[in-house]
Parts: sequence; structure tokens; C-alpha cells
Amino acid sequence: MKKTAYVGMSADIIHPGHLNIIKEASKVGDVVIGLLTDEAVASYKRLPYMSYEQRKIVIENIKGVTKVIPQTTLDYEANLRLVKPDFVVHGDDWKEGVQQKVRQKVIDVLSEWGGQLIDIPYTKGISSTQLNCSLKEIGTTPEIRLKRLRRLISVKPIVRILESHSGLTGLICENITISVDGKLEEFDGMWSSSLTDSTSKGKPDIEAVDLTTRLHSINDILECTTKPMIYDGDSGGKPEHFIYTVRTLERLGISAIIIEDKIGLKKNSLFETGVKQEQDTVEDFSYKISMGKKAQITDDFMIIARIESFICGKGLLDALFRAENYVKAGADGIMIHSKDQSGEDIRDFCQKFREKDKSTPIVVVPSTYNHITEDEFICWGANIVIYANHMLRSSYPAMVNVAKSILLNKRSFEADDLCMSINDILTLIPGTK
Ligand code: SPV
Ligand code: MG
Repeated sequence: MKKTAYVGMSADIIHPGHLNIIKEASKVGDVVIGLLTDEAVASYKRLPYMSYEQRKIVIENIKGVTKVIPQTTLDYEANLRLVKPDFVVHGDDWKEGVQQKVRQKVIDVLSEWGGQLIDIPYTKGISSTQLNCSLKEIGTTPEIRLKRLRRLISVKPIVRILESHSGLTGLICENITISVDGKLEEFDGMWSSSLTDSTSKGKPDIEAVDLTTRLHSINDILECTTKPMIYDGDSGGKPEHFIYTVRTLERLGISAIIIEDKIGLKKNSLFETGVKQEQDTVEDFSYKISMGKKAQITDDFMIIARIESFICGKGLLDALFRAENYVKAGADGIMIHSKDQSGEDIRDFCQKFREKDKSTPIVVVPSTYNHITEDEFICWGANIVIYANHMLRSSYPAMVNVAKSILLNKRSFEADDLCMSINDILTLIPGTK
């Protein structure tokens, strides 16, 4: 009987290294590809560029491949027990780093039926990481970027969004990663905050910065990033105006707008002085949502309804009633907001809402209840967490300190330690020659 060789891969950007592994595997048996699902890939690195179905079509048609089956976790065990291959074939690069433990388990499980692991010498001069960098340089299209948020929501336990108000903060969101226990942690997208965008322009957060002006900052961000963006649409304005905002954002490739159910002069929700904030009626806000939904061209753009019941001093029942109605009106997600520091009102809302509605994404913005961890939000049933103002709030005090130091010392020598080096800033942005 012909032997079987199992090859696990994500096959997003196929390069000669992959073809070499398939070729080597086909020398020892029929090649079964365990194609990692989007969930499996997203559990340890960035979401693939191509969907599972697209990747499957590509890999199925590569010479030497007999069969493609989904591998739903980074761990091979379940599929190995299913296929009982004689061999597993993999590049020898997994002897180090993230996948070391996965490799050892493959060896252990295979040994149960006398199967063997074959490590193929890593193909030099080409790597997915390198190709990824080149892809980032090429950039993205509005369509790909727009669709990405829904894909992320469907495959990640929680989508992590960071506030961005400039090209530079966009680059932080795009590029900053850390490795924790071999798993790559990064932000999934950007939040264009009305608070930080208006503050960075020296204006109050009262909808005084119009859409056209907001688009200047947004364009700067879109120019140098590929990750999805969620736009803070404040109250959304009049329904008749809102439809144009939806179309404009959709055309630019922004994935979602969040509008809040406030009327009158909008103030920032986190004000401690208890400024009076008036909430819209359920009917009028639902009408605005439905007008927006009718206006959008694609099925991918999301209109997320933000409920201000807790901010306006109303209770859980009011918030839940509104959520149910906003979803009926077409809202693609619910953002529940609060300035309470305990997080209990948000937890109660998430849990109660989830009892009835298992699928509508919930967005949380833990600016005040910031001790709650992402794992807790996942348990509550939330899908997106937005760190809504942290890039601006961290940069301002740093700049003020440097300004004061210069004033105090009548020179910048003492401030130098507080600054990045000239060389670092010159090389921060690629393209400076
Ligand atoms: C923003 O970031 O502008 C928001 C969130 O709307 S909050 O400031 O908490 O209202
Ligand atoms: Mg805002």
C-alpha cells in the first residue's frame, strides 16, 4: 500500500520553499496537506492575506498534492490521529522558536504507530517574513482592507484595536509586535477617535472637526498602513447627512463606523463633571442606522451602534432594550460604553445581551475600567476591544517634559535622553536615502 506523507502549512504566500517540501514529501508517499484554517493561523501570527477557500484552491492545484484537509489548530495531534500518516514532512526551521513544542508533539504522536518526522533543510534566501515585508510595502486596496475587520471578528477570540490620529501612530499600530511564549502579539487595526483627532488639532471633542478635516488625518494613516480602521462617527449627524458619511468611508476602505445615540451638542462621554448629555430616542436612532445600512454599497461595511445609556445615568434594562432595537434596525455590532471604573455594568450588559443574541459583535472601550483583561472580555462575550486614546495620552506628557526641560536649561542637551536619537528618527521611516 502506498505510504502517506502529511504536510501542515498555511500556504498564504507560496514560495519555492513550500514547493520543495511538497516535492520531498511526494517522494515518500501520497501527500496530504493539512491546511491551517484562518483561526489556526491567527492563533499565533497575523491573519493570512487569502481566505481559507482561496488558499485551498491554490494548494490543491500544486503538483504532488493528493488531498487537502483543514487543520483547525496549530497543534497537529487531531489530524495525525485521523490520517495516521507514515511521515510528517516539515522545514527544519521549526526546530527553533514558536513551533518547537508543536514539533516534539508530532514526533511523540507519530511514534505511536511507527510514523516518522522528516525535517527538510530550510530553503535559503526566501522566507514568508521577508515576503510579508515586501507585501506591506506594496500596501493594500480599499476593498481588501475593508473586508479584513469582518474576517478578523470571525476568526479571533477578540479583535484588538488601537487609537491612531496620524501617520506615525498608524505605523505604531501597523508594525509594533511582541513575542510572548513564541506567540506574536500585535494590534489588529486602528481606531480613528474623535477625541484624539480633535485634540491633536487643538479643538474640543464636540463634533467641531468636520468629516472633510477628519479625512486629512485618516488619509495620512491609510497611506502608510494596511490594517483595518474603525471610524468614530460621533452622533452620525442628521440621517440625511449620515448616508454620505457612510458612502465616503466605505469608498476609502474603512471597515466600520461607530455612531452614538446622543443628540444635542455632543460632549465627550468620559467627562467627570457630569455635563448633561441627551440620549436620542430609540425610534430616531434606529431610523438613522437603517438609513446608513441602505446607503452602503458593499455587504462588508459595518455600522456599529454605540449605546450611551450608562453614560446618561440610565440602567441595564434601557441599554439592553436599545441594543435589541438597534440590531433590529440593521446595526452590525453594539458598542456599550461606560465611565464607571468597576467594569461591572459592562460585564452585566455583555452577559445579558449574549443570553439572547449569540452573534452580534460587542465592542468595549475600557478607558476607565482598564484593569479588566482581554481574556475577561472574551469570557463576557465581547468581540472587539478598543484602546481609544492611548497614543495621544502617552505622547503629550512626553512632549511637555521635553519642552519644559529646554525652557529650564536654556538648551536641549538635558532633554536628549528623553528623545529618540537623530539616527533613529532618520531611519524610522523607510525610504530616507
Ligand atoms: C473617542 O475616542 O473619541 C470616543 C471614546 O468616542 S470616548 O472618548 O470614551 O467617548
Ligand atoms: Mg468620540
